[in-house]
Order: sequence, then structure tokens, then C-alpha cells
Amino acid sequence: MQICRTKAEARAVINDWRAHRCDVVLVPTMGFLHEGHLSLMRLARTRAGAGGKVIASIFVNPTQFGPGEDLDSYPRDEARDFDLLRAEGIDAVFAPDAAEVYDPKAQTIVETTELAKVLIGRLRPGHFRGVATVVTKLFNIIRPDAAVFGEKDFQQLAVIRTLVRDLDMEIEIIGGPIAREGDGLAMSSRNVRLSPADRAAAPVLARALEQAAEMAPTGITASRLRSHVRATLEAEPRAQVQSVDIRDAVTLDTIAGPLTRPAVILLAAKFGQVFLIDNRVLHPA
Ligand code: PAJ
Repeated sequence: MQICRTKAEARAVINDWRAHRCDVVLVPTMGFLHEGHLSLMRLARTRAGAGGKVIASIFVNPTQFGPGEDLDSYPRDEARDFDLLRAEGIDAVFAPDAAEVYDPKAQTIVETTELAKVLIGRLRPGHFRGVATVVTKLFNIIRPDAAVFGEKDFQQLAVIRTLVRDLDMEIEIIGGPIAREGDGLAMSSRNVRLSPADRAAAPVLARALEQAAEMAPTGITASRLRSHVRATLEAEPRAQVQSVDIRDAVTLDTIAGPLTRPAVILLAAKFGQVFLIDNRVLHPA
């Protein structure tokens, strides 16, 4: 596995691959890899095919963290990440530092103006601007044919699909399903920072989603469903509920009445200082 620390090193590797007409598939991450990330690596390998190449990126992107968020305490273990990527047969990893990625004089940002304001964007102002900008930069450095993102970050996936469409990027975006622990908790690099009591309480998110999936085909309205799910979450005293939203699964537009098309329920809650999100697509009868 080739390790690229600079944009120039990454470009040299990619140019060599391109000269051999290999398809290139990118999996962007912030590292501290878990089975969810690795499931995306396998999807990337399938998309790349026998002759293609898979490159992962590991970069804890400072511009997507707000003041007072967990940039400094975000878990990191690069040596372990590299071992996991090697074991998956990943061809290269781009792992730059912040100074390599961001020129202090840079003045250009990428923002999906409407999507960046709602849901997580409301809880974390500036977050999606940071994500959209860094992902655009990664796309320009690597110039992949396809890139893989997890449905765990449902709104992020919508942001990426939107920027690719709006900016005429010729990159196929592939979404991968949410990988979960045995008790249903969605895998996240942040899970290791949960106290034992919070770790035991956090699967309430998955249980609430399960409840929503069972109720969705009964003809219930989105607003009533939302109240039920909120009550389930609030019954867990360790959960500080940040948001419960039911949206159109494709447009992320709000829904109040009965579900007539696939919808998505999106949850955000804090357990201690740890911010967790989860979601599930809901199908009407
Ligand atoms: P990170 O949180 O490291 O996630 C990297 C990718 O893994 C994202 O596409 C995310 O949706 C996916 N992922 C995380 N947990 C998952 C799970 N349990 N199941 C399936 N996929 C999962 O998301 C980011 O990094 C950053 O915002 C990034 C896109 C790299 C831009 O900085």
C-alpha cells in the first residue's frame, strides 16, 4: 500500500494508475477506522473491479468542526488504520496534514446553500461547508471515477450528491449501508469516547428507529411518528435529544402528513459530551 503525505505524491500515484487505464475509487475518511469504514472499502473494491485501484483518505478535516466541538479530542490511530487498510488490500492511502491541505491564503469555499442550513447543518453551523469544501478538494486531487460514502451520514451523502450534480463533476457516488454493533448501535469513531453507562444507553437510538420502521406502514402521520420516537428517546435519561426529523428520503423536504413515499427518520442525541447520529429509511404500506 502506497502512503501519500502530499498532494504531489498522491497525484504521482494516480497519474501512474491512469496511464495504465485503471479505474480509481476513493473512500474519504477521518480515520480511526471501524467495520463501517471497512465495509465501504469492500464496496469500493467491488466497484473498482480486478483491474481498478482503491485509494482511501485519512484526514481529520479542521474546517468541518465548529468552535468548542471535538476536533482536538477526535480519536486518532494512524498506524492501526494503515494496518487495517493493508489487510483490506487497499492500494494507496492519502494521509496529509492540515497545512498540506489548506493554504492559509485560500478564499474559496463550496457550499450547498439550502442543504447546509437544515437538520445537522442547523445543529452544527458551517459543518457542511467544511465537508463540501474538503471533499471537492479531495475529488480534485485524486480525480476518482467513483467515490464511496456511508448512509450513516445521510445528509452528508445528500450534500455530496448535490455538489457533484451542481458542479458537473463526473464522479459516480456510491452509498453504503450502515454497519451496526450487535446491539444495534451504529458504528462510529466517536463510540470509544462513550462512558460505559452511555455506551449501554446509546442503543436506544437504534431501538427508536426500529419502532419507527414498524409504525411507518400503519398510515400514521409523520408528526405523530416523530412524537412517538421522541418519547422513546426521552425515556432514556442519559440521552440528550438534539433532533428527531422525518424527511423525504430523496429531497430531504419536510413531511407532516401520512407517508406516501420513502421517508427517512434522522436522529441526533448527545450522550455526555459525545454527539451521535443515526437514521433509517421508512417505507409506507
Ligand atoms: P468519517 O466520519 O470518518 O466517515 C467516513 C465515511 O464512513 C463516511 O462516508 C461515513 O458515512 C462512513 N461511515 C461512518 N460510520 C459508518 C457506519 N457505521 N456504517 C457505514 N458507513 C459509515 O464522514 C466523514 O468521515 C467526513 O465528513 C469526510 C466525508 C471524510 C469529510 O471530511
